[in-house]
Amino acid sequence: MTHDHILILDFGSQVTQLIARRVRESGVYCEIWPFNHADEKKVKDFAPKGIILSGGPMSVTAEGSPRAPQFVFEMGLPLLGICYGQQTMCEQLGGKVEGSDHKEFGRAYVEITEQCKLFDSVWDKGSKEMVWMSHGDRVTKLPDGFKIVGISEGAPCAAVANDDKRMYGVQFHPEVVHTPHGAALIKNFTHNICGCAGDWTMNSFRQEMIEKIRKQVGDKRVICGLSGGVDSSVTAILIHEAIGDQLTCIYVDTGMMRAGESEQVVSLFKDHYNIPLIHEDASELFLGKLAGITDPEQKRKIIGGLFIEVFEACANRIGGADFLAQGTLYPDVIESVSFIGGPSVTIKSHHNVGGLPERMNMKLVEPLRELFKDEVRALGRELGMNEDFIRRHPFPGPGLAIRIPGDITREKLEILRNADKIYIEEIKNAGLYDTIWQAFAVLLPVKTVGVMGDDRTYDHVCALRAVTSTDGMTADYFPYDHAFLGRVANRIINEVRGINRVVYDITSKPPGTIEWE
Ligand code: XMP
Repeated sequence: MTHDHILILDFGSQVTQLIARRVRESGVYCEIWPFNHADEKKVKDFAPKGIILSGGPMSVTAEGSPRAPQFVFEMGLPLLGICYGQQTMCEQLGGKVEGSDHKEFGRAYVEITEQCKLFDSVWDKGSKEMVWMSHGDRVTKLPDGFKIVGISEGAPCAAVANDDKRMYGVQFHPEVVHTPHGAALIKNFTHNICGCAGDWTMNSFRQEMIEKIRKQVGDKRVICGLSGGVDSSVTAILIHEAIGDQLTCIYVDTGMMRAGESEQVVSLFKDHYNIPLIHEDASELFLGKLAGITDPEQKRKIIGGLFIEVFEACANRIGGADFLAQGTLYPDVIESVSFIGGPSVTIKSHHNVGGLPERMNMKLVEPLRELFKDEVRALGRELGMNEDFIRRHPFPGPGLAIRIPGDITREKLEILRNADKIYIEEIKNAGLYDTIWQAFAVLLPVKTVGVMGDDRTYDHVCALRAVTSTDGMTADYFPYDHAFLGRVANRIINEVRGINRVVYDITSKPPGTIEWE
């Protein structure tokens, strides 16, 4: 691929991934590397047109705190230091950083005291601009050749520049949406300062990835497990575009999918895209093995094991394959710097079809490895997938099994499916679906007494869950208005036999989890 690159060196900030998102939104490909994984040869091979130093949780004034490799300042490349990145850049080039009692967290205002290339056509000298800050330390002495271009109450060097060397530093975070013009500043850096062309688009990604897949796979066969989610669907559609019927998709119906879900997936692949698909109804097997099992971990283990078994049997039926396609995304492969318990590197692994590649001796095809979730959605649109499918909330691999605490029966599954369907329908009617990260109903193993007409009822309790989140790692409950909750409760109780009480879960994560099991 011949596009321009930007390299982001990560010092462990919570928002480093947002820097990458903003750079990519400016049409420039970038990668995030831990600051201590960047040796000179690797960086030169990557050939970035500019380097961004991220923020981080440490203090530059603390002994042993991280530093950028010195060679990055000597390569003649444009540099942008953000927060910790600005501080270490200034310090390493001969300036000074000090701790301060005046900490700035959250919204702040920067006064633009001088013009510089980073501000071109975005901010003018003399204006006051809203930014988002999160720092205690601050730069107090500049390295030679630098000038102050912005000041704030807590940071005498809120923005610094050396236009000749094309080096810039900001104490605030341009990558977060709370800095309204932050994306424009980052685009100035990537386009006007680094000279990137901005030609990395989803359309170019699609064309190039198709070539790459063809080269990797040759005339061999590929299988792809579909979960019904966006990632595995986009993976399959892209690979099919590259190699046609050398790809076979396998959709295992565990009997624990939501209402209409299996039909939707099968119709999308078979009718719309005409992709070879094995639709395996394994519900008897799954529900049989799960009968009487109440422990959440045991449920997950049984489901995971059976899934691999069924998937393997389906694959063998078509004569096996050399490659397994997976919808692994960039956040799963980024090695992010973690300072919890000392500088260590955590690598998240992907467990979609855990263990299968080794067991079946298959190589992996992972065309989405370089993409963030919103980029996968954009690629899905590019591939002609419909918006409803693209915007679907995440759904866990074990399906409804972990939304029925206690043992699972066909009857309970049916009750839950019906309640969930009404709940999601009402969310969509209220125009809230896209604001919510994930919403679903849970069927509780508790029966309570109610009255319906002249009859006494003794039925299940249904809990409703809805959360906002950005990555599922932390979450807040969604603040519905009471009229909405009343409407949903009323419909569920009136329309779903087996439920006579509805409650709303207002637990955030942490301490709760999003799912109930
Ligand atoms: P929790 O409940 O851990 O969920 O807060 C965070 C996100 O992960 C999903 N989730 C799973 N996904 N297999 C999956 O593929 C699982 O076993 C699983 N458990 C939770 C959950 O739906 C949420 O989006």
